[in-house]
Amino acid sequence: MLLNGVSHRTITVDSQQTITIIDQTRLPFSIEWLKLETVDAACIAIKTMQVRGAPAIGAVAAYAMVLAVKEDASWQAILQAAQSIKATRPTAVNLAWAVDKQLAALCDVEDDLRLELSWQLAADICEEDVAACSAIGDYGLALIEKIAAQKPGQTINILTHCNAGWLATVDWGTALSPIYKAQQKGLPIHVWVDETRPRNQGALLTAFELSQQGINNTLICDNAGGHLMQTGQVDLCLVGSDRTTSNGNVCNKIGTYLKALAAKDNNIPFYVALPTSTIDWILHSGNDIPIEERDASEVLNVMVNVDGELQALPMSAATQAANPAFDVTPAHLVTALITEKGVYAANTEALQRLKDVCDK
Ligand code: MRU
Repeated sequence: MLLNGVSHRTITVDSQQTITIIDQTRLPFSIEWLKLETVDAACIAIKTMQVRGAPAIGAVAAYAMVLAVKEDASWQAILQAAQSIKATRPTAVNLAWAVDKQLAALCDVEDDLRLELSWQLAADICEEDVAACSAIGDYGLALIEKIAAQKPGQTINILTHCNAGWLATVDWGTALSPIYKAQQKGLPIHVWVDETRPRNQGALLTAFELSQQGINNTLICDNAGGHLMQTGQVDLCLVGSDRTTSNGNVCNKIGTYLKALAAKDNNIPFYVALPTSTIDWILHSGNDIPIEERDASEVLNVMVNVDGELQALPMSAATQAANPAFDVTPAHLVTALITEKGVYAANTEALQRLKDVCDK
């Protein structure tokens, strides 16, 4: 998608096998690109959220495995690196999914053939993510068009939480992909952007990327969504997911659950957009998802822009804070899951059908 009018992806590579990511901790006040040259650098990038968003983390994890092979192509060393990469962030399942894909591809291969193979697989994972997110956009667009048909000529108001746009993926995004496709179709779209304390992915990233694409958006504080829904100012909610269990429970950025409750109470469709790489087919309950607990300093401080640099400033009298980074929205609050394979109900039977399609 566009950055200052130029098309970009969040991860780029060149013929010298240089891996470059956009540094999300610098956005929106500064656009900086970061070279990942070691496994350690890739792990730090994931941990410190220089790259974030489930599919983007998965793509970087796939390239982190390439760096691991470069550093030491022996199986023992690869296994050790895989462990460190998986330990960076616990909730988004794409991370372990990408690492496991690399392990499965590399295990029965001679050491000297591993680099080329892992490089190709990482590239494939990125391409598949782009294709999946684009397809999610097409399926989601059809749902937006249905809503648009009920209010011809009027603006369609969509509420989103956190950042599930192209910055959270390789390109297109998950929840924002249908919005970009709707814009291309000429539909009048307006997006309510939850600021998403404490890391403010909405304020810093979603508002930024929507504006870069020329999409009308309004920032709201995290508590405003319920009121907007009650007063008829939201037509649908569209969010992403970090891990969806095989019974349709959706784990996403903290605060998603409250939006789903408010949507249910106000008969507003609550859609979750996700590539199937985000589905944890093993877990049957959201209660089993490890919820990342991040540092209290993220809650006790607020990040402010000082001359193009984000700086942490204290904003509370409190000395302790809790910082669960994700919550689980039960399946019964989810209107449907928008995937690259189509739109599926959030329940065990529908997801089994989706799994059968994926396994074919
Ligand atoms: O902590 P983050 O910023 O990595 O969390 C990201 C989210 O929760 C997104 O909504 C999620 O990954 C869906 S993304 C395409």
